[in-house]
Amino acid sequence: MNIKNESIRGMHDYLPKEIMIWNHVETILKKILFSYCYNEIRLPILEYTTLFNNTIGNTTDIITKEMYSFEDRSKKKITLRPEGTVSCVRANIQHKLLNNKEQKLWYLGPMFRYERPQKGRYRQFYQMGVEVFGLKGPDIEIELILLTFRFWKKLGIDRHLILEINSIGSINIRHKYKKDLVKFLKKNKSQLDDDSKKRLDTNPLRILDSKNPSTQILLKNGPKLHHYLDKNSSIFFKKLCCFMSDIGIPYTINNNLIRGLDYYNDTVFEWKTNKLGSQNTICAGGRYDKLTEQLGGPKVPAIGFAIGMDRLILLIKEVSSLILPFSIDVYILIFDDSFKLDAIKLSELIRNKLPALKVMINFHEINITKQFRLANKHNSRVALLLGPKEKEKKSILMKDLTNKTQKIVLKTELINELSFLL
Ligand code: HAM
Repeated sequence: MNIKNESIRGMHDYLPKEIMIWNHVETILKKILFSYCYNEIRLPILEYTTLFNNTIGNTTDIITKEMYSFEDRSKKKITLRPEGTVSCVRANIQHKLLNNKEQKLWYLGPMFRYERPQKGRYRQFYQMGVEVFGLKGPDIEIELILLTFRFWKKLGIDRHLILEINSIGSINIRHKYKKDLVKFLKKNKSQLDDDSKKRLDTNPLRILDSKNPSTQILLKNGPKLHHYLDKNSSIFFKKLCCFMSDIGIPYTINNNLIRGLDYYNDTVFEWKTNKLGSQNTICAGGRYDKLTEQLGGPKVPAIGFAIGMDRLILLIKEVSSLILPFSIDVYILIFDDSFKLDAIKLSELIRNKLPALKVMINFHEINITKQFRLANKHNSRVALLLGPKEKEKKSILMKDLTNKTQKIVLKTELINELSFLL
């Protein structure tokens, strides 16, 4: 097979202009996390494959067909992480962070799933995840929902996101429900499409997410998970809904919201948009009270969510007027080659005195008109010209490229003159 020198399908480069938006968004999210006292944790991209198998769920799409797994040089089975929750739990246990302590953590990084790529769905994508350990809820559920809502408001996209919540009860209840659902669907197998027929034996709960209208009509007559909830789960969910109504964030209860990973219990939630087509979930999460114990740690309740950063950026670009010009504060132009060293020294002086400014030097040997054109093309705010006439007078020509005004400035006065850019 002829492999082109291009990035792998579903994995793409994030170019500088795009990264400016990412940095801007990440800074906003990190500031908010800081204000809620959440701490960053950095986790490896590779983990032993066994970590994921039983936790995410042996019959889930991720485990059965989406993981990038291979053997390392010592024949150990390893996997590029498909998500961050399980690694985060592993790290908490390994470093004994959970003994009688509450932990509020966040992480940001690439995840890998071998999915069919399309808009908003990639094989390498980024998640910002938040995981809280040691709190039973539902107060912490409310904090996480308020936190995410604050993200959206600050990013100017809150009008385009709706919150869906559900309770999926305990893991045992879900097993019982799954059995009854399969029984019902097998009886009505002829009414299912091929995709759902396949899922019947592998991952039947995903049939609830089916976009096929006739499947949805059929499901209306089938067993409902919320009818299976035990007393504790029902009371917990009622309390959560009461709190939600009290804080006034709009939400809907979606009884079909089950989530595609097995470790959840009780609360699950998703923030969705109708602006991105089928890949419409921007942020998703839920409670996973049994996972830490399952991985050999103490009995610790936990809850978290992850934002699909690629989808978040797509949504911001789609709906908000976030304009981030590729701007330079000071662009230094040179009369000829003999001024290059002066230009370097001047740029260092400006960076020493006014470190917040972005300073760029033109190193190309092109005429002054072309250099001014370049300065404008880069969206520069001020251009400084170093030339023989100016050198003789120990001065610099300073041009304000926004107002189109210019003046000769003494070198000793330059820093003062530039401080309006701060
Ligand atoms: P998840 O629903 O698998 O949950 O992923 C969370 C979010 O990551 C999705 O809602 C979506 O925005 C984004 N995402 C997932 N797959 C892709 C993809 N192929 N391309 C682009 N974006 C994608 C989890 O991963 C859980 N660990 C979330 C969690 C944290 N639950 C508790 N704590």
